[in-house]
Amino acid sequence: MSAGSARPAAPAPEVVLAADGLTKHFPVRARGRALLSRTRPSLRAVDDVSLTLRRGQVTALVGESGSGKSTVARLLAQLHQQTAGSIRLHGEPVSARGGRRFRAYSRRVQLIFQDPFASLNPVHTVRYHLTRALKIHGRAGESRKDLEDALADLLTRVRLTPPERYLDKFPHELSGGQRQRVAIARALGADPEVLLADEPVSMLDVSIRLGVLNLLRDLKERLHLAILYITHDIASARYFADDTVVMYAGQVVEGGDSETVTQRPAHPYTQLLIDSAPDPDRLAGADSGTREAGTGEPPSLITPPPGCRFHPRCPHAMARCRTEAPPPLAIGDSPGHFAACWLYDEARQP
Ligand SMILES: Nc1ncnc2c1ncn2[C@@H]1O[C@H](COP(=O)(O)OP(=O)(O)OP(=O)(O)O)[C@@H](O)[C@H]1O
Ligand code: SF4
Ligand SMILES: [Mg+2]
Repeated sequence: MSAGSARPAAPAPEVVLAADGLTKHFPVRARGRALLSRTRPSLRAVDDVSLTLRRGQVTALVGESGSGKSTVARLLAQLHQQTAGSIRLHGEPVSARGGRRFRAYSRRVQLIFQDPFASLNPVHTVRYHLTRALKIHGRAGESRKDLEDALADLLTRVRLTPPERYLDKFPHELSGGQRQRVAIARALGADPEVLLADEPVSMLDVSIRLGVLNLLRDLKERLHLAILYITHDIASARYFADDTVVMYAGQVVEGGDSETVTQRPAHPYTQLLIDSAPDPDRLAGADSGTREAGTGEPPSLITPPPGCRFHPRCPHAMARCRTEAPPPLAIGDSPGHFAACWLYDEARQP
């Protein structure tokens, strides 16, 4: 899964997309004393994030608002240029800014957004959106019949059947869940290997969230997609994701298989996240809001706390936590489980 972790003994599925030390700093305007400084201030949205997406597996990326989840997705989609670190697709370094190389990359790595209404053009029909995706990615076939078959296939894959009922509808004529299914069908039009789903159910009515998540799970199994599932809600990660990675203030603080991370969270921040989730089996409420974990505010990302960024909020903070940043440390209760927390340093001593 991620930095500093060993994999289980059973062969893990093939790594499709891997980020190593991914970092994104956004320049910000200097104010106050910073005006006198020679170095330009920046907002450290993502700092040294490593994660892997595997064929036929869902990896959840969990964290509170502003922790850097969407920035990671946009970096992986090559919509942002990273400040440092690397991204590899099947082991090949990715650098796909602009033009033909970007199109070739986005054919393989597709991003689904939170708000399907905003991502679909209101003046165009479902047929238009899907045809455009198929044509851009060279999958519209040779004849009109090829195109109609491909359109029907896409809608059937996302369970919008019979397809002819939906093809000529405009976005406003569909429910929120149906719109998100169209957005997923459009992504599938590229025949991708990776889906980056940025809070795909958070804007949907509670009653239809489970259906869309089940659809994504079904696609993962049938099409062997590698899926990044971004969410605020750690309870839905347990239900839906094979692996879970937890972010805090731009950094990964814990990772491992979802059952372990949600049932035996090691990092104090993950523990707070779980404690603040009202009901662990409450999938219906997935992404229902921006609940903040525990007490305290997320830190400034322009001048983040030194040492462990969580130390101002951590009930277990020690002296070294204020000065030294903890590396990912293996927990030892389950292969691949790690936490970036000094509490687990003892376990590494002989
Ligand atoms: N283009 C940008 N320019 C400057 N700052 C940005 C930009 N995009 C994101 N940020 C900042 O980076 C930090 C991380 O934002 P990001 O959107 O990745 O968080 P998130 O975890 O997805 O939050 P949410 O759960 O609210 O969607 C935030 O402080 C945000 O304001
Ligand atoms: S390193 Fe220290 S401050 Fe950070 S989470 Fe662990 S105990 Fe808390
Ligand atoms: Mg976001």
